[in-house]
Amino acid sequence: MRNNTSVEPVNETVDIDHQHPDFIANRHGRYGELRARCPVVYNTAYGGFWLVTDYESVAAVARDNETFAHRFDPEADDGISYQGICGIPRPKGTPRMGVSEIDGPDHADLRRVLNPHMSPRRVEQLRPRMEEISTWFLDEVIEAGRADLVLDYATPVPAVLTLESMGMPAENWDYYAEFFHASASYERTDPKYIAAVGRWQDMWDELVGFARFRRRNPSDDITTTLVTCEVAGRPLTDSEVGGVMWNLVAGGLDTTTSLVSWGLHHLGTVPDVRGRLLADQTLVPGAVEEFLRFYSPSETLTRTATRDVELGGRRIARGDVVMISWVSANHDPEVFQQADEVVIDRSVNRHLAFGLGGHRCIGAQVARMEAEVMFRDVLNRIPDYVIDEDSFRPYPGNLLMTGVVSMPVVFTAGRRHGGTSPLGGL
Ligand code: HEM
Repeated sequence: MRNNTSVEPVNETVDIDHQHPDFIANRHGRYGELRARCPVVYNTAYGGFWLVTDYESVAAVARDNETFAHRFDPEADDGISYQGICGIPRPKGTPRMGVSEIDGPDHADLRRVLNPHMSPRRVEQLRPRMEEISTWFLDEVIEAGRADLVLDYATPVPAVLTLESMGMPAENWDYYAEFFHASASYERTDPKYIAAVGRWQDMWDELVGFARFRRRNPSDDITTTLVTCEVAGRPLTDSEVGGVMWNLVAGGLDTTTSLVSWGLHHLGTVPDVRGRLLADQTLVPGAVEEFLRFYSPSETLTRTATRDVELGGRRIARGDVVMISWVSANHDPEVFQQADEVVIDRSVNRHLAFGLGGHRCIGAQVARMEAEVMFRDVLNRIPDYVIDEDSFRPYPGNLLMTGVVSMPVVFTAGRRHGGTSPLGGL
């Protein structure tokens, strides 16, 4: 491992627009250069922030939530402008992400409240429903012999399960999916991005409105848990519930969609990997882990330093914004052999795609189950799909996420499996 403990007089700064399409198109190479030369470096872009790219330093930041705060509080009374986890640049007016952007005992207490909905036991209870939803969306396209695997499948399936888990009407899945895709992925000059950000208040009102509805009409879902729980000895306000709902819906929609989209693209373009999975589906869970590592749907997140601290030989000042790159850490050759290759049967895969430490992804088990179901379903029902590479479009810009806008495919038509639409509402 690198020695990151000695302080060297390295004062290099860079000026990198990590959201520019050119950077995104070549990001593995660019991150590789940074990791090798200056794994903790000051980037002057976007008002200035530290960019952390090697596994060891990314893990050190992620483990130390006291020094590297998640908190979103630009006007805190201790003189620090806390930028939260999506601080560079944060769409104006974006609400605080409920679980992600608080620290300390309140955060631990809120996770305790949510944990039963995310436990391995609960996730296994959700699996049959996930299979029904997946079946239905494949049924919708299977007779035609053509589909867009992102728009028709990888987007709605996790969205519907997420909304159902929240207790919300699933027929609105595209309203939520479009908002979170556009605000997390497009360039800031893109009309779709501008339109999405312009709708954030509607989205917020929708979520808080549903929380209020659940206060009057409790049921058996995550929203009901949130409006009836106590955190730090008191009930959550409507606004706090809205923030947690925002966090869960954002976390549940775009991330799994991205994982499955990139994974299906990989299977569609690397016949050997598809062939191995078709021959032996016990390899699917390992392939999911490897797609998580290689593609890292949640690419980067930020923290705010609460004190002066040394990291990777650089001195970070109290109040500085620190951006950690999960995707770069996950391609660090110091930790992963053949780091820039997809190896679906790695014996050890300590990837950071779900983060690390106290804020590690609470939905990790849900995401794994969803992805396994979806890969198996596609392999079993449309095993010979062929991607129209000319129409394949990855996310053009990036605030936080990688993903795919559109992936048209053709395949041998099949028969519906039947079942009822999951879009019937409450
Ligand atoms: C492939 C799928 C997913 C990926 C790659 C992913 C990635 C991540 C990462 C990297 C973090 C850590 C954030 C940090 O350290 O600041 C995180 C946190 C979180 N994720 Fe996920 N996630 C996925 C799926 C989900 C799903 C399905 C849900 C909801 C059911 C979810 C809900 C959350 C929440 C609420 C947090 C905040 C946890 C906390 O701050 O304590 N995620 N996720």
